[in-house]
Amino acid sequence: MQLQKVGVIGAGTMGNGIAHVFARSGYSVTLCDVEQSLLARALDTITINLHREAHKKKISAEDNAAALKRITPVTDRSRLADCDFIVEAATEKFEIKTEIFRDLDRLARPEVILASNTSSISITKLGALTRRPEKVIGMHFFNPVPVMKLVEVIRGLATSQETFSETRNLALKLEKTPVEVNDAPGFVSNRVLMPLLNEAMYVVMEGVATAEAVDEVFKLGMAHPMGPLTLADFIGLDVCLDIMRVMLDGLGDPKYRPCPLLIRMVDAGWLGRKSGRGFYKY
Ligand code: 3HC
Repeated sequence: MQLQKVGVIGAGTMGNGIAHVFARSGYSVTLCDVEQSLLARALDTITINLHREAHKKKISAEDNAAALKRITPVTDRSRLADCDFIVEAATEKFEIKTEIFRDLDRLARPEVILASNTSSISITKLGALTRRPEKVIGMHFFNPVPVMKLVEVIRGLATSQETFSETRNLALKLEKTPVEVNDAPGFVSNRVLMPLLNEAMYVVMEGVATAEAVDEVFKLGMAHPMGPLTLADFIGLDVCLDIMRVMLDGLGDPKYRPCPLLIRMVDAGWLGRKSGRGFYKY
């Protein structure tokens, strides 16, 4: 079946980026979040980012305007009932995703694939919440979504080959490069990335070097576009902490213990770029 209408749940950083790339590739997008103000902010961000692409001549002014028109913001989740494919990009909490997946399973047509942009929660567990575990899959995008080429496509234990192929093809239509990964805490990306960021935080906490110095080491010595602490601020320190906890819990190895400085900063509300303060001030 030709997919035309895509639902995106969650209009935060990842959700608005996901809505952006689907709309840019010609899909109608129903973007759903709990509050009108969150949707308004997401549409502002998408408008700015699409203009940026038009300005850089990556898309034409007409395509830019058409892409924006393809996005319908809604607060009522039942409006996703006519979608052909749904991506969940809500807060990274299992209880929140539980409620969403049960509800989506009730309201979406039985053949519709339910994908999650989760950064570490088990796809197998999300699938088991539904009556269609073979149609539940991970579709993990990277921030900034319009720029980063990777989509990790994660197979849960029950995910069917048909669901995998359809999701993979969809990523290709978005001009992304899908990489196949099996379900395990943190998948590949965060399993490897987060311990690096966490260790960089230990280095700062122990006074081995400043955040600036650690970032310089990685930018100049390893050609990373952002140093690990700038990247942690960019991702969100609360997100980093949640992912470390999922990996510690799921893999049971103390090497995934979150850095105490990370916990303290999240407790203080220093969540990185989005809150104006993290390892740096914004
Ligand atoms: N939308 C559209 N275009 C954007 C954009 C956005 N949100 N953000 C940046 N761009 C474009 C710019 O217009 C620019 O285009 P150009 O190459 O045609 O000039 C290009 O991207 C580069 O941007 P800038 O020149 O403004 O800035 P930089 O060169 O410093 O690049 C960056 C910014 C792309 C964010 C780069 O620093 C980078 O790649 N950082 C690492 C990001 C990363 O690692 N992301 C993954 C995080 S992990 C994750 O998301 C998983 C989760 O589970 C935690």
